[in-house]
Amino acid sequence: MLTGRRILLGVSGGVAAFKAAYLARRLVERGAEVRAIMTRSAREFIGAQTLAAITGSPPSEDLFGADSVSPHTDLAGWSDLLVIAPATAATMARLANGLSDDLLSATALAFVGPVVVAPAMHTEMWEQPATQRNLALLKADGVHTVGPVSGALAGGDEGPGRMSEPEEIVDAIEIVLGGGALSGTRVLVSAGGTREPIDPVRYLGNRSSGKMGTAVAEEAAARGAEVTLVTTAELPVSDAVAVVVVETADEMADAVWNRTGEVDVAVLAAAVADFKPQDAAGSKLRRASGPPDVKLVPTPDILAGVASQDDRPFLVGFAAEAGPAEQAVGKAAAKGVDFLVANDVTLPDAGFGTDTNRVTIIRPTGDTDEWPVMSKRQVAARLWDLIQGERASS
Ligand SMILES: Cc1cc2nc3c(=O)[nH]c(=O)nc-3n(C[C@H](O)[C@H](O)[C@H](O)COP(=O)(O)O)c2cc1C
Repeated sequence: MLTGRRILLGVSGGVAAFKAAYLARRLVERGAEVRAIMTRSAREFIGAQTLAAITGSPPSEDLFGADSVSPHTDLAGWSDLLVIAPATAATMARLANGLSDDLLSATALAFVGPVVVAPAMHTEMWEQPATQRNLALLKADGVHTVGPVSGALAGGDEGPGRMSEPEEIVDAIEIVLGGGALSGTRVLVSAGGTREPIDPVRYLGNRSSGKMGTAVAEEAAARGAEVTLVTTAELPVSDAVAVVVVETADEMADAVWNRTGEVDVAVLAAAVADFKPQDAAGSKLRRASGPPDVKLVPTPDILAGVASQDDRPFLVGFAAEAGPAEQAVGKAAAKGVDFLVANDVTLPDAGFGTDTNRVTIIRPTGDTDEWPVMSKRQVAARLWDLIQGERASS
């Protein structure tokens, strides 16, 4: 929650400026007091009246001629955090170079608290060396960045440069301001599907996208946890999550087991191969040599390994089932977890690659609780509510 927090929302002139209204609404809903600053260009994309109606006060627009003698220092002194969403390439350049030639950049320069920037622009603008240089400068100055993500852009284009959704920006703000329900809690999450090499080119893999585990990590970070995400899937994730990228089940086992002694909660959502080729060929297998005889051997059981550790963390495992979740009931007891999250990956609205999931919580006692279809982020939020409740009552 952001109750009582004073947030200054800078809106610069890109098509994503309409999303600034949603962001303002979300911030107000979470209890923040919001004031907006619009650049001259932003006025071409969103009405001042819209932001005024949502925030309760007219956005500030000009450095000179306003009611205040020194609006930039007044606004900077008033706020706990400055978020700029969308941040255009031009605004990023101004900030990175310490320019202060309009109200937003002058306020940013006069402000000494945390700054969150959500860039939004066409892919070509985003990938320009100049923009990337400015981004690196901003990061080096301690500015927090959210996104951009890849997706639909103005004019029917598609690619990296799309502004992160307002909910993600609010999460980032909550992380930066701290004080969430999981603050002080160390969390490890695994995500994605492992790849077991057959030769230097080919692998045995599975269809896991890593979206569910990444959502679990993001939600924990948004609640203030210190989060490490061990993943095979390099999806966009907030700066607050420490990411360890692995490929095979062996690498994932090492990365997880080396860290689970130091965390309070482990949520293992990765789809880890049960078998791997015994010997990966050193060079590419040739068609002319005929079908290879690939002998499979078991991979380490990562979940069972954590469960058997002395002083193990609170442990949640995910089970991907090709059929009703009840198949996983025996597994919950056998694996020694606090609970299992089972999902039927053959359903169209659950499992691999989808943005929604339909899961069943299975306890070692055999008790089950079926949750309705939700976005993966909503599943993650409900999961953390459950984990927090169980840890508090144990
Ligand atoms: C239709 C249109 C859309 C634009 N969208 C973006 C955008 O998404 N991101 C961006 O960096 N610039 C965009 N621009 C260019 C900026 O509006 C321009 O660089 C402006 O000077 C930015 O000023 P500001 O950063 O002070 O708001 C767009 C321009 C037009 C005409």
